[in-house]
Amino acid sequence: MAAHATVDRERSARRIELDIETLAGPDYTVSSEAIRRYAYTPVYRNTLDYFTAALQELGFTVSEDPVGTLIARNRPPGQPVFGIGSHCDSNRNGGRYDGTMGVVTALEVCRLNAELGLDLPLQLISFLEEEGSGFGQMLLGSRIMLQRVTEDELRESFRAIDDGRSFWEHAESAGYEPARWRESIHALDDLTGWIEMHIEQARVLQDTGNRIGLVHTIAGYVHADVIVEGRGDHAGATPMDLRLDPTTVLAETVLELERLAVAAGQGTVGTVGEIEVDPGLINAIASRIRFSLDIRGPVDDAYSGVARDVAAFAERAAAARGMTADVRQRQTLPATPLDDRIVDALDAAAAATGEPYIRMHSGAAHDTMCVADRVPSAMVFVPCKDGISHHPDEDANPADAALAAEIILGAIAALQD
Ligand code: GLV
Ligand code: MN
Ligand code: MN
Repeated sequence: MAAHATVDRERSARRIELDIETLAGPDYTVSSEAIRRYAYTPVYRNTLDYFTAALQELGFTVSEDPVGTLIARNRPPGQPVFGIGSHCDSNRNGGRYDGTMGVVTALEVCRLNAELGLDLPLQLISFLEEEGSGFGQMLLGSRIMLQRVTEDELRESFRAIDDGRSFWEHAESAGYEPARWRESIHALDDLTGWIEMHIEQARVLQDTGNRIGLVHTIAGYVHADVIVEGRGDHAGATPMDLRLDPTTVLAETVLELERLAVAAGQGTVGTVGEIEVDPGLINAIASRIRFSLDIRGPVDDAYSGVARDVAAFAERAAAARGMTADVRQRQTLPATPLDDRIVDALDAAAAATGEPYIRMHSGAAHDTMCVADRVPSAMVFVPCKDGISHHPDEDANPADAALAAEIILGAIAALQD
């Protein structure tokens, strides 16, 4: 397709900017300080309704799977379609672009497809709960779709951060049919390929002066919790040598995780992002502490070695101080190589625009990790300012997203042959 010759990038950028601006308004976020929207809240419903209306206007048939992942297509069921999309939920302290810019860009691909008279067969997906902001489970909609959960987890273990009720209960209250969750996989039945566009969430593109990143691998990850049991006591009256203070194990483990991740190299990173201190009072030694481990990288052996070593370290560090540490795995996904043929088609479409681009890996997790299990998949990144993401200061340029839309459209057109 000679899409680069005909696409009006400025018009695309204006439309993308308007969508993003609208979806940052008060009807679409629970918080005024950040973008905060997650499954089964009214603001999330409004967001799905926004995309539904825009896609129906383009003649797409829009539906939702049994738990609420949005699916829109311009061909009847059974006919092959090419998949595009991302997620439109946000981190609890999120910005406007993570996920949402990917769905908006996919919508722009659908608009261009109609305007340019290309009539490419397309299916847009906006996955439920990519961020885990509702139930603490990342990639939940795509894991449900790929059957990477158990019914027991959906009925019992996955509980809402806000009120502790189960995922199942929440899904039913919102009018969905979680009992049919296994049917969710049929959304992939007709897909001949899948491309997700996303902000980079790091600063490789900015630092190298590239406008587009073509992702060939997505980093794998281990998510776990460490629970250290100590002995709660008086902060003033308890001498230093008579304490069983679990925060000391936290402190040692955070530093050891940093040391291990740096030593492992190869893109390995480790983060302690959640710390829960019980009882959490200034004048009391904690009796118990829970902290999370998020350990990732593109090389499975490297990051899973760090996960194993830091768990063993925490257990030893607790034992050395007369306490116990229990390490519980929450979730893990291996690093995901993406499809060469689709990455090559994107490469050719990017080259045709004359704009600077590179191939790279993704440090962040994406629903594409699940989709790629079944469907040849790739991702396109655009820069985000200073790499800041999962923060209200997140910033990205609609002009880059417009360029990504053109490249995705060109690649899909080429892949039809
Ligand atoms: C997803 O948002 C992630 O944390 O990678
Ligand atoms: Mn995202
Ligand atoms: Mn995110």
